[in-house]
Amino acid sequence: MKYFLDSAKIDEVREAYDTFGIDGVTTNPNHIKLSGKPFKEVLSQFADFVKEKGIEGYEKFPISVEINPHLDNADDMVAMGKEIAGMCSNFVIKIPCTEAGVTAARRLEKEGIRTNVTLIFSPSQSILPMKNGSLFISPFIGWKENSGEDCVQYIEDICTIRDNYNFDTEIICAAVRNGKQFNDCAVSGADIVTAGLQVYKDSMYHPFTDFGMAKFQAAWDATVTD
Ligand code: E4P
Repeated sequence: MKYFLDSAKIDEVREAYDTFGIDGVTTNPNHIKLSGKPFKEVLSQFADFVKEKGIEGYEKFPISVEINPHLDNADDMVAMGKEIAGMCSNFVIKIPCTEAGVTAARRLEKEGIRTNVTLIFSPSQSILPMKNGSLFISPFIGWKENSGEDCVQYIEDICTIRDNYNFDTEIICAAVRNGKQFNDCAVSGADIVTAGLQVYKDSMYHPFTDFGMAKFQAAWDATVTD
């Protein structure tokens, strides 16, 4: 399973790449806002980063960049997608799962511009983007579970649909918030999870590891080692 970082903060991307070896990045308009930088400056920081690391190209390190959410027709979405894709070969165009968005994603894929269809909340929403050859789809987990839904069956169903029809699309489980959700995504057969840096850090923690460390340190100290 691949790990993507869900952030537009270049310092977090650098830390996650250098320490955990993340496989890609996803962003959305909220992340860009939280970075405190203008949209184009964030994109140019990403472009510099992939050059510096020698990971140019979406095949090596995909970075999903979402189009302006105010766009409501496929023509405008395609135009903005092309503009963003022209800035860096790592950029994958993130498009909402609306009728216009799915149409725009299909058109962009036909022109060789890779897409990530986002804001997916049901298995039925996942089918057309996969059938149309989007590189990624992003079914959300955290938002649904925050509102009381259990996402295991939902992830399993989307993975089953992908497998039934041998779709090439990779499934990004998005807005993952904790270790249990990582586990559910991995067991269900999702290709990718995307989460914030602190979620990855928290998911590596277990109190028994600290307990074990203290126990083994005490044993080490009570042992003649030379
Ligand atoms: C997915 O690609 C989205 O960017 C993301 O997971 C949305 O969730 P959040 O911004 O609430 O974390």
